Amino acid sequence: MSRSDYPSAHPFLPQEKSLDNLAEAAAGCQGCPLYQDATQVVFGEGHGEADIMLVGEQPGVREDRTGEPFVGPAGKVLDQAIGEAGLHRGDLYITNAVKHFKAETTEDRVNEIKPNVSEITACRPWLEQEMEQVQPEIIVALGAVAARSLIGQAIAIGETLDEWMQTAEGRDLLVTYHPSATLRSIAEADQDRIFDAITAALVRARETVTPTRPGARPQA
Ligand code: URA
Ligand code: SF4
Repeated sequence: MSRSDYPSAHPFLPQEKSLDNLAEAAAGCQGCPLYQDATQVVFGEGHGEADIMLVGEQPGVREDRTGEPFVGPAGKVLDQAIGEAGLHRGDLYITNAVKHFKAETTEDRVNEIKPNVSEITACRPWLEQEMEQVQPEIIVALGAVAARSLIGQAIAIGETLDEWMQTAEGRDLLVTYHPSATLRSIAEADQDRIFDAITAALVRARETVTPTRPGARPQA
């Protein structure tokens, strides 16, 4: 396959679908060229029956090394927002729109780069399967790449913060900023505003789902 071909993760889906099987199969995915340079796949993690699913963009340097989503600097911000929103990370299912790290290496550093639409589209089957397995009541898209993947078209974050949206398959969706937006060199007031918006989306998600156990369906 040439590097310019962007097929799909679809042929790599396992016959028997469970979160464990999917994660295992994703490790062998060659659905787009990103697997070639990444260390490993970073599949979603968390509560297998979570009521709330968080979707980020793509693994960063730390996630590429550890194989777990949101364990680097953006993960720290996310953990803080989750805590402030009265949620527990273990009750949530946390994943990314794209499962392999994308970077360009220059002489002195590794620069993370955003996935393009072809890569986002190629990786969508994994996200679709995660939604099928977990059956979350509410999905929270963290940033434009997650929103692009979930909705199927580009939207401007900031214009839809207070709106209920829907994924392409009709699941309830809230869209907010990506936690790494608070780490950019912008005014502190803007960093705070972005953090508060992320927390507000998580609070809204919590208040909309089960009254008994935040983030997860009550055990039958
Ligand atoms: N940024 C993301 O979008 N996802 C991660 O897992 C880490 C950083
Ligand atoms: Fe497959 Fe997604 Fe990795 Fe591309 S980024 S190789 S589609 S798992």
